[in-house]
Amino acid sequence: MAPAIQAENLVKTFGDVRALDGVSLDVPEGTVLGLLGPNGAGKTTTVRVLATLLRPDSGRAVVAGVDVLKHPNKVRSLIGLSGQYAAVDEYLTGFENLQMVGELYQMSARQAKVRALELLEWFNLTEAKDRTAKTYSGGMRRRLDLAAALVVRPPVMFLDEPTTGLDPRNRLALWEVIETLVEQGTTLLLTTQYLEEADRLAHDIAVVDHGRVIARGTADQLKAQIGGERIEVVVHEPGLVADAVAALSGYALGEPAVEKNTRRITVPVSGGARVLADVIRELDARGIEIDDIGLRRPTLDDVFLTLTGHVAETVEEESGSGGRGRGGRGKGGPSAEGPPAEGPSAEGPDGSDGQGPDKQAVAAGTER
Ligand SMILES: Nc1ncnc2c1ncn2[C@@H]1O[C@H](COP(=O)(O)OP(=O)(O)O)[C@@H](O)[C@H]1O
Ligand SMILES: [Mg+2]
Repeated sequence: MAPAIQAENLVKTFGDVRALDGVSLDVPEGTVLGLLGPNGAGKTTTVRVLATLLRPDSGRAVVAGVDVLKHPNKVRSLIGLSGQYAAVDEYLTGFENLQMVGELYQMSARQAKVRALELLEWFNLTEAKDRTAKTYSGGMRRRLDLAAALVVRPPVMFLDEPTTGLDPRNRLALWEVIETLVEQGTTLLLTTQYLEEADRLAHDIAVVDHGRVIARGTADQLKAQIGGERIEVVVHEPGLVADAVAALSGYALGEPAVEKNTRRITVPVSGGARVLADVIRELDARGIEIDDIGLRRPTLDDVFLTLTGHVAETVEEESGSGGRGRGGRGKGGPSAEGPPAEGPSAEGPDGSDGQGPDKQAVAAGTER
């Protein structure tokens, strides 16, 4: 299949920062590429270049068969981008916003209406459809924004962290929307901080770090590539975490990962249940009490950790339930994380959105 998105050796510098240091990727038509990487890795910059919003210093890109640098306007007519062209109008209702986008793209009034209602339903906004967008909470706006990007069913879509900040119910709803789009033939480049999102949606994953693609494959291939199993231990006493790490190091095939606040230690091992039994005996002999221990196959989190040296970021959800509860965060640059949720939402009768605009995930095209 011809690639619907192709980038060759993209380089982009901002002063001293080499945001893209030779990014190459290709996305076959009708498939989903998940772009994974820590904060500051160059994901958004890649999306912005491919979506014609930013000129690279060098390199080449072709989207839907059209050269991005030579014919940006043509490319723009063939792509959808989350949070970009949508430009939600505060003073229009949710329904009017979507209908307007349809009419801008020369749909008939009837077609635009049908499409708007369909999208509102998809994004759980039907009840709010007749309220002006300015009464919407952050999470609702984000969904409206995404809906607007989908009005015209573009053949190629870029979604930059589409579900960051959404609560689990809306995330699931969006995943279903994305799966439907892909079934209908849309090619998608998706950046995400949620590894389970990449695991579920992406046919192929590219791990990006320091402006380069450092690994590429399906989720299963990447997991197999890093190999081994993982032992996870939760130590009872915070003060004994370091001792437990020392005890485990004799069995570890690589660096142990330690989450201090949860007292969880993860080490790559090989040898299965026998090693697990040895570890339990060793911890017991050293008088280190544990709350939990288990053996598991590597996850995408382990892939991420092994390749980039740190765990994926914790992200606040719109319901304020505190993301996935992981302790790690990206290495540099301001993070999208805010303080813990600010309690029950003051906005939105559906009560599902507790997210202020400051916490809203960065959509493609906006600066972090
Ligand atoms: N407009 C800009 N001006 C200066 N530096 C930028 C700009 N956009 C991105 N960067 C820098 O480029 C690097 C990559 O950023 P970005 O592509 O946003 O990463 P990601 O989306 O993976 O978090 C970061 O170091 C970021 O600070
Ligand atoms: Mg980004």
